[in-house]
Amino acid sequence: MKRYRIATIPGDGIGQEVIPAGATVLRALAKSMGSFEFEFENFEWSGDYYRAHGVMMPEDGLDRLRDKDAILFGSAGDPHIPDHITLWGLRLKICQGFDQYANVRPTRILAGIDAPLKRSAAKDLDWVIVRENSEGEYSGVGGRVHKGHAIEVATDVSMMTRIGVERIMRYAFRLAQSRPRKRLTVITKSNAQRHAMVMWDEIAVEISKEFPDVHWDKELVDAATARMVNRPATLDTIVATNLHADILSDLAAALAGSLGIAPTGNIDPERRFPSMFEPIHGSAFDIMGKGLANPTGTFWSSVMMLDHLGEPLAAARLMSAIETMTGNRALHTRDLGGTATTAQVTDAICNSLNESF
Ligand code: IPM
Ligand code: MG
Repeated sequence: MKRYRIATIPGDGIGQEVIPAGATVLRALAKSMGSFEFEFENFEWSGDYYRAHGVMMPEDGLDRLRDKDAILFGSAGDPHIPDHITLWGLRLKICQGFDQYANVRPTRILAGIDAPLKRSAAKDLDWVIVRENSEGEYSGVGGRVHKGHAIEVATDVSMMTRIGVERIMRYAFRLAQSRPRKRLTVITKSNAQRHAMVMWDEIAVEISKEFPDVHWDKELVDAATARMVNRPATLDTIVATNLHADILSDLAAALAGSLGIAPTGNIDPERRFPSMFEPIHGSAFDIMGKGLANPTGTFWSSVMMLDHLGEPLAAARLMSAIETMTGNRALHTRDLGGTATTAQVTDAICNSLNESF
């Protein structure tokens, strides 16, 4: 029987609740499919690990993940540790260390979810945001001098490389080509940022020639926010820089009803390294330990993981179990205006997976 080796990293806050829920659902799914199984290894790298060891993950952390088939990640963030330490010490270390250069963020309004866009637009919101995940505004280049003095200077330099832009454009065009509408919107800000973003635009034109059947257009990032609200049906696949896509994907998740639902894959398209799947919500310390977290973002991220592993049937089956669950208001968690607990939602999904055979 096929056996997938999965690393789970719950991290901080509600990550500690949603990742075990995800593993439970994946085990139930594997059992109901009967054609593969999971071997999970859990890594307790988090804010607590940092307090005990002074680092977010051990020196050989990447090596311990390297031979896994995929990583399921919760969230990193601790109210008592600066965010840039938790982020750069764990999540970005994995994303950049494994060159997971494509961050893929699908958004749909799932069955039964009340979204801020008017009802008739529900079917119109079916997007995938492709976020450049290895460089740009998150390249970490910069510094501070004259700290604390009046002459203090600080820089964060956005680095764009030709190879980095070409590969994310190619990934986005290919993804757009695989979707029914074959439509791609390239987000830019080349009216104001006149070097890197101009190269970004030029490379989009070059790569588009490899994909003559993809209809594509260009949108300035500020205008894109208005278009997402006013004309959602004109968008399908979207590609944007690291920071632009970070912002647009929160808007997308909110428009689809809740940050608690939205999934992400940090993908190494070349499959040299394991890819990492995670809900986009953060550690949510305000509700941690109360059993109130919505595990749907983790379940949908698990669907993406199954697709990546080459198990499309299992992925479709879990997605349909998720939508059956969201369609039942009694199973809505607090972020969706309901009272269901993490455990109730998880049990409901497991039961429906067991029943469907
Ligand atoms: C995301 C998050 C992270 C990011 C934070 C936690 C640094 O907002 O995954 O979108 O900006 O990349
Ligand atoms: Mg974000």
